[in-house]
Amino acid sequence: MIRTSYRTHLCGTLGEKEIGESVTLAGWVHTRRDHGGLIFVDLRDREGIVQVVFSPEVSRPAFATAEMVRGEYILQVEGEVRRRPPGTENPKLQTGAVEVYASSCKVLSPAKTPPFYIEDNINVEEELRLRYRYLDLRRPEIQHGLKMRHRAAKVARDFLDSHGFWEIETPMLTRSTPEGARDYLVPSRVNPGRFYALPQSPQLFKQILMVAGAEKYFQIVRCFRDEDLRADRQPEFTQIDIEMSYVGIDDVLRLSESLVAEICREVAGIEVQLPIPRFSYDRAMALYGTDKPDIRYGLQLTDVSDIVADSAFKVFTQVVKGGGMVKGIAVPGATELTRREIDELTRYAANFGAKGLAYVQVTAEGPKSPILKFILPEEVQRLLARLEARSGDLLLFVADERAVVERSLGAVRTRIAEHLGLIPPGFAFAWVVDFPLLEYDAAEQRFVAVHHPFTAPYDEDLAFIDEDPARVRAKAYDLVLNGVELGGGSIRIHRRDVQERVFRAIGVEPREAEEKFGFLLEAFEYGAPPHGGIAFGFDRLLMLLLGRTTIRDVIPFPKTQSAQDPMTQAPAPVTNRQLAELHVKLDIKEQTKKI
Ligand code: AMO
Ligand code: AMP
Repeated sequence: MIRTSYRTHLCGTLGEKEIGESVTLAGWVHTRRDHGGLIFVDLRDREGIVQVVFSPEVSRPAFATAEMVRGEYILQVEGEVRRRPPGTENPKLQTGAVEVYASSCKVLSPAKTPPFYIEDNINVEEELRLRYRYLDLRRPEIQHGLKMRHRAAKVARDFLDSHGFWEIETPMLTRSTPEGARDYLVPSRVNPGRFYALPQSPQLFKQILMVAGAEKYFQIVRCFRDEDLRADRQPEFTQIDIEMSYVGIDDVLRLSESLVAEICREVAGIEVQLPIPRFSYDRAMALYGTDKPDIRYGLQLTDVSDIVADSAFKVFTQVVKGGGMVKGIAVPGATELTRREIDELTRYAANFGAKGLAYVQVTAEGPKSPILKFILPEEVQRLLARLEARSGDLLLFVADERAVVERSLGAVRTRIAEHLGLIPPGFAFAWVVDFPLLEYDAAEQRFVAVHHPFTAPYDEDLAFIDEDPARVRAKAYDLVLNGVELGGGSIRIHRRDVQERVFRAIGVEPREAEEKFGFLLEAFEYGAPPHGGIAFGFDRLLMLLLGRTTIRDVIPFPKTQSAQDPMTQAPAPVTNRQLAELHVKLDIKEQTKKI
């Protein structure tokens, strides 16, 4: 419905087809330019901008009103759509071929001068933008985000509906869930001393829904995690959450790919090549040094341990003899890097545990490097050949135990590719599959689940879970886009005995398992179908598809880096009476100010 008692047309949709028509518009004054005899107002609504011309010859009262309006006033304008005089068309505006000659004008709402311009690419502190989020949201790029968020959710719903999924809600007031972050807690007034936890995900409920016979569930759902915030992390964020009965890994991946491809088509107009390539966790780590590989560019990690094993370079030989490895990357066009830049990169690698970063510059005159004095010319030639080095390349090497080599060289790979602009634009999806089920947590001194403890192990690997837990592979998968983890899921355990074995392997005592997840274990005893699922980070997907660098730009009302909302000033103190009702006593010196 466009026509209401306030307007007949939308500003941003007017064009040649309306020429000669009399229209009524309502919208904000985007800009106002006074040319003496004529006043031009760009009037803006959700759909865009149209130029309104005020001339005393058309209407003296309308002209008088236009003389006193300012930016962000809301006007109701009646007038005739005319073709713009030749030479005055504005190709930058959707409506640039026409303008509206105002015959009457009414101020519906005056406005204070906004604290920043309502336009794209403004350079304004985010704190201020969020304090006035309603103004920030008027800006076209942010408003486009809202629109695309709606479109993407609609596409997801339609797609999943057409594949037989039901959207089912799960509780927000629940108990702690196992995604591994800190919980947001809500004290219970009627149950003194007890707390609900806001869900980190609907994981347990969606599994219960499979036991309950829903078979195909989805939900576009808010999740809450109290963790350190970053550009792609918010305390509350949205998942497209999916669970299915009677499926294996391929079934989930195939459905997920088609869903993501539809969203990409709708939001970004791109065609995703299906199937999306799959990397085992081991291969992703070996080639890219990360389980979130950005495969838009090469610079793959290459093992050269065999070539340097017997060289005279002690650093390398000792590492290889000690069971470690030496890997290198070839960075095109990086011979020009200065000593300082290489030192900086070496310090960066050190953050990830590397004890050094050996380098070889492949120049037109041949290889140059401080380590050449330790390595025979034929070994150097083999290194160049192995890394397919070309003139202009900079070769970088790390020698250490496998995990350190992969982590540090993987980080260097990303860093230098960004620094030298080696990452082509575009979208490259990748699946990472066959994760380890468990990993050793040195701080906790026990094995922990890599995903969550309900992830099924490969049947044939379950036998090693007690003597060699690290060797057990999980039926888990992550979807990665341009180096960002977009989604993750798994085939689940659906048998109580297997679930108990996994709990035991991660040091969850039977009593603790019973107390926290007893309802799930019990449910498994009443006929649980094999099931699996996945959850996508909806905000992250939108951020990447819209070319933004933070998910705050695609969330209508995000929090700042310190988890605050500058507009509502949440979180806020509460009254002593509220606290007393909740049986909560604050243990902080200064009771937050009285309200
Ligand atoms: P996981 O914890 O991997 O899996 O979460 C799924 C996806 O949600 C996104 N995400 C976030 N986005 C913004 N801010 C955050 N703080 C944040 N945390 C996670 C990521 C991530 O890939 N229940 C399982 C799914 C399953 O097994 O089916 C789960 O929640 O894009
Ligand atoms: P050094 O002998 O310590 O002066 O190191 C010579 C070169 O080898 C320097 O460029 C160091 O950064 C590099 N280097 C030292 N240790 C390692 C290592 N573990 N892996 C890769 N390069 C290293």
